[in-house]
Amino acid sequence: MKNLVLVGFMGSGKTSAGKLAAQRLGLTFVDMDAVVEQRHGQTISQIFETKGEAFFRQRERALVRELASFQDRVIATGGGIVLDGNNLRDFSRTSIVICCWVDSRVAYERTKDAKHRPLLGLLGTDSDRLARVEKLLRERESLYKAIPNRIDTSAMSVEQQADEIVRMYKQQAGA
Ligand code: S3P
Repeated sequence: MKNLVLVGFMGSGKTSAGKLAAQRLGLTFVDMDAVVEQRHGQTISQIFETKGEAFFRQRERALVRELASFQDRVIATGGGIVLDGNNLRDFSRTSIVICCWVDSRVAYERTKDAKHRPLLGLLGTDSDRLARVEKLLRERESLYKAIPNRIDTSAMSVEQQADEIVRMYKQQAGA
């Protein structure tokens, strides 16, 4: 079976709905950030802090190339995967790519207590954090919205999102 690749902003439910969808489809779940963390023995925040974002993006790019050559995986990508067009190009060859869209207010609510997302910052007020989410999402909006298979997850539960992902995947994969 083709891979199912989930793309979307931080807080769009790629990991939680992806795990459920993988269970329902009987495919292996892979979280790209978790693989990078495991291989480097550092958290994503530590990698950003000690080696910088450019290093992280290189590791992310190398992992896309590796995973795109596999089959039978549900892959939750990091939110910034769309920044390098080569990533979606590689995945599109071997996988069904689905974008999980989320509105900025909902992305903010879902991520505001998390400490593991370096781009959203660890310090600052709630309004600083909301402004950061809005700015980043605005910058990336056209990249996410260029993906034809798209689900607006803003008002969905994780279960509803997983159902919709499975439905779309089966339709596209002819499964
Ligand atoms: C990032 C999203 C994160 C992680 C890193 C950068 C981004 O993944 O890869 O902090 O640029 O949007 P999640 O989308 O899983 O939070």
